[in-house]
Amino acid sequence: MLVTKHVCFSFLASFTISLRTVDSITVVIKQRPSVSPSCQIRVKNVRRPELKINPGENVTFTFTCSTPEKYFIMEIQKNIDCVLGPCPFGDVQLYPPGLPRLNRTFIWDVKASTKAGLELKFSTPWLRQIEPGGTCPDFVSYNINSCIDTARVNIGTFCRNGSVSRVKLLGGVVMSLHLPWDSPLTTSGFSIANRASIKRLCIIESILNGESSVTLMSPNYPLGFPEDELMTWQFVVPSNMRASVFFHNYSLSNCERKEERVEYYIPGSLSNPEVFKLSDSQPANIAGSFNLSLQGCDQDAQNPGILRLLFQVVVQHPQVDENVTHLVDLSKEYNMTVTIHFKGWPGRIPLMSEPICLICKDPRTCDRVLTLVSGTVYKISFLCKDLSHLRITAEKGISCVDLRWCQRNIYSLSVPKAVTQLPIQLHKFIWKLLAPDLINTEITSPSLKLQQCVPEQRCNTSYRYSIVSATPETELKVGTFCPGGSIEKIQMRNNITISLETFGKGFLNESNRQDLKMSFVPHIKDECTFTVRPDPKAKVYLQTPNWLYGLPPYVSISWYIIVPSKQVARLGFSKDRMGITCETGRAYVNIKEETLRAEETVRREDELLPEPRNMYHNFWVNISNCKPVDKMQLDLQFWVTFADKQIDLGVILAVVAGAGVLTAIGLTVCCVKKKKKKSQNPMVGVYNADVNTQVPEKQGLFTKGRKNNESHVYAVIDDAMVYGHLLKESNGSVTPEVDVYRPFDGPIGSLPPSPPPFSFKKDIKRSPSTEEPSPLTDTDHDAYMFAHQKSGPLEDNGDANEENNGDTSTSLLENKEQEGLVE
Ligand SMILES: *[C@@H]1O[C@H](CO)[C@@H](O)[C@H](O)[C@H]1NC(C)=O
Ligand SMILES: *[C@@H]1O[C@H](CO)[C@@H](O)[C@H](O)[C@H]1NC(C)=O
Ligand SMILES: *[C@@H]1O[C@H](CO)[C@@H](O)[C@H](O)[C@H]1NC(C)=O
Ligand SMILES: *[C@@H]1O[C@H](CO)[C@@H](O)[C@H](O)[C@H]1NC(C)=O
Ligand SMILES: *[C@@H]1O[C@H](CO)[C@@H](O)[C@H](O)[C@H]1NC(C)=O
Ligand SMILES: *[C@@H]1O[C@H](CO)[C@@H](O)[C@H](O)[C@H]1NC(C)=O
Ligand SMILES: *[C@@H]1O[C@H](CO)[C@@H](O)[C@H](O)[C@H]1NC(C)=O
Ligand SMILES: *[C@@H]1O[C@H](CO)[C@@H](O)[C@H](O)[C@H]1NC(C)=O
Ligand SMILES: *[C@@H]1O[C@H](CO)[C@@H](O)[C@H](O)[C@H]1NC(C)=O
Ligand SMILES: *[C@@H]1O[C@H](CO)[C@@H](O)[C@H](O)[C@H]1NC(C)=O
Ligand SMILES: *[C@@H]1O[C@H](CO)[C@@H](O)[C@H](O)[C@H]1NC(C)=O
Repeated sequence: MLVTKHVCFSFLASFTISLRTVDSITVVIKQRPSVSPSCQIRVKNVRRPELKINPGENVTFTFTCSTPEKYFIMEIQKNIDCVLGPCPFGDVQLYPPGLPRLNRTFIWDVKASTKAGLELKFSTPWLRQIEPGGTCPDFVSYNINSCIDTARVNIGTFCRNGSVSRVKLLGGVVMSLHLPWDSPLTTSGFSIANRASIKRLCIIESILNGESSVTLMSPNYPLGFPEDELMTWQFVVPSNMRASVFFHNYSLSNCERKEERVEYYIPGSLSNPEVFKLSDSQPANIAGSFNLSLQGCDQDAQNPGILRLLFQVVVQHPQVDENVTHLVDLSKEYNMTVTIHFKGWPGRIPLMSEPICLICKDPRTCDRVLTLVSGTVYKISFLCKDLSHLRITAEKGISCVDLRWCQRNIYSLSVPKAVTQLPIQLHKFIWKLLAPDLINTEITSPSLKLQQCVPEQRCNTSYRYSIVSATPETELKVGTFCPGGSIEKIQMRNNITISLETFGKGFLNESNRQDLKMSFVPHIKDECTFTVRPDPKAKVYLQTPNWLYGLPPYVSISWYIIVPSKQVARLGFSKDRMGITCETGRAYVNIKEETLRAEETVRREDELLPEPRNMYHNFWVNISNCKPVDKMQLDLQFWVTFADKQIDLGVILAVVAGAGVLTAIGLTVCCVKKKKKKSQNPMVGVYNADVNTQVPEKQGLFTKGRKNNESHVYAVIDDAMVYGHLLKESNGSVTPEVDVYRPFDGPIGSLPPSPPPFSFKKDIKRSPSTEEPSPLTDTDHDAYMFAHQKSGPLEDNGDANEENNGDTSTSLLENKEQEGLVE
């Protein structure tokens, strides 16, 4: 026999359950579904998976394992018939005692006449309704079902510890209590009494003594409330407290006759019952106890729909400020909304335990969220102990349809006084700048100027702007900026969203100084263009938009950096490579001083970025992306500092040790002139256009014909250019590359572009090969030349950033000699 193998049986506890017939209790012990049957019940040496003990039976049994709670559950059902005999009312017992410790469900099936009312009264700490399927912290839950004839209505599922103190029902009830196997609970926690008919499906009483809130649901939620039914919630609230009702979730059925509605009996109201639609804003600030009834309708049999309601009642002390009204005058504002809301809105539903703050349009119309629209004057008040729980989010739209009407307008992007004067912290003010494709936007901050928030220069201001440019398909995070920096102007394409976010209370003080302005401008060439006028004493960091996500493919960004006339700027990149490999197109960094025939430094993604270098005039830093191979991102950061020009000259002079100042300059000029003859063929740099990018490696020049819609292409026109195409074709290894992105797709004037007054150069000495680009080494990474050609003849006058190398230093004086070569 199997039993003999299991010696351990003798150590397992045995249970005896004896049920009296009069109690009408049935106990069922069964295996939990979907658990391997490795434990069984043994009754008189017979093993079975399930045991049912009927009224009047007496059974002794053991389990074949020591942890039956893992495998078995138990149902204890008691039938109470109040139709035939007397109702055993009073406290309901957890009977019989001595049950094995298993998860168990006590079920009380009370049959009663539909003419009588039954009352379930719960002992403290009362009950809290949860959505069906939810779990309670202690896994103890009650389920109340109303049975009228054969129809069952789920009145609700509840946890212990809430405000629901009584439930009155009509007719029969099936009440169940689920207890986990280790629950210490020994009493059912409720009593049954009979009452006069309540003339409705049910009445649920909730007692709210202190500041609190309760969430309740209509029967059968989230399914439909029974057709044409009526039910009531009674709220017992001390008369010195204020209650407010919020409907969070509801849906309506399709009524054929009558209307679904809620009715309130509100103390002191002259119009009781007050009738509301479910879609109305529900009453707030009710003093004392009230009741709320939900009335269904006769539904359309074909398409009944669902009437359901999930709502919350919040009870607070009267607020000191309840009679203080704030005037919010938005009559002069245009296309703006101001929303006052709780912290975390709209993503978060506040916890029950959190203090509730209400915003009222009038004493009884209050809500947790109130939206004010421009063109109106409001008088609002707050029911809130601590206004720091509230926030304001505002949005203003500015649109331009036709540039002729908007171009001259300058819009101020500042938070209006009506908003800053409220005692509520501004969370966000969002400006949506909308324009069709060929109209772009420009924002300026003339007095404060903007600083880009980067880790090296944190924004410590009380507010900052985050700027996003978006088309219906893509989004470019231009960056986060705070006031007090060096960015004077940002021009951007696409629809722009500027969000002012505040940090701390300081914004109220700083708000007076906002100076962000905005205007619509004709189409710009790049995705974004920044105009930067750094403070000569500061180190300015700038970085590409979409930081951390990478500049989108084919997008080009430019910075125009203004260098004060007596200063020399030093420009450096925070890393030495772009760190990407292109799948299509090429990525470039182009640097050029804004002076006649200045040379341009060009770096492709497969080359090292320029070393820190000096810039003597205003200059451009342009970055354009290719389509990088998967998962690679172009994120570049550079910095600019300033020094007095004197110091820089000193460095140059120091190189030519032992000579007098004038001699030194003469020497420099001389050396440069010699060198120029050696490297006669300037190189071509390409800035994000469909130009053969191999050309620089060939030391050849080529021409860039005026192709359709390309305005952002520049190349060097030189006597060598005529042969440029031959050069390309003669070498099979060179494949022209075509960039897909065209930075400028706007209309083009009828004039062909004039030859650019500058050239790109590459130092021949350092890249002697005319073959495929060789991997750059430390010695040749600076091979592209960088020259100042303010007005002199085209000369290879050396590299300005190599201060300690006499023969390539750029003299400021020699630039004057270089004039008019291109013409
Ligand atoms: C059940 O059985 C036990 C012993 O087996 C006995 O003591 C008890 O009186 C019985 N109870 C009933 C109701 O038969
Ligand atoms: C018993 O109840 C607990 C808590 O609800 C649950 O985690 C466990 O799985 C249940 N055990 C069985 C056998 O159903
Ligand atoms: C009852 O709920 C309150 C707050 O909702 C909580 O502070 C308290 O600890 C709970 N009591 C029990 C016994 O769970
Ligand atoms: C409201 O109902 C929807 C749909 O049933 C549900 O997804 C949502 O979670 C409900 N909200 C609340 C607060 O219960
Ligand atoms: C609702 O409240 C009113 C006034 O207090 C009372 O007359 C009425 O009986 C109540 N109704 C229910 C169903 O509680
Ligand atoms: C607000 O005004 C009402 C009506 O005038 C008054 O009953 C109430 O006491 C006032 N509340 C406070 C906090 O002053
Ligand atoms: C008003 O602003 C919204 C965005 O906030 C925008 O969609 C709408 O076009 C704007 N209307 C006008 C007339 O500017
Ligand atoms: C913010 O930082 C700047 C320098 O980085 C400093 O001059 C200024 O006082 C700081 N402001 C605040 C409010 O801390
Ligand atoms: C900007 O938004 C407007 C209105 O939503 C839309 O018509 C237009 O195409 C958008 N412009 C761009 C560049 O996405
Ligand atoms: C605002 O400025 C005033 C005076 O300029 C100062 O007394 C107050 O502390 C400031 N408040 C904050 C929150 O910075
Ligand atoms: C950089 O971009 C600006 C604006 O598109 C353009 O005017 C300038 O010539 C470009 N400079 C370089 C060096 O590419």
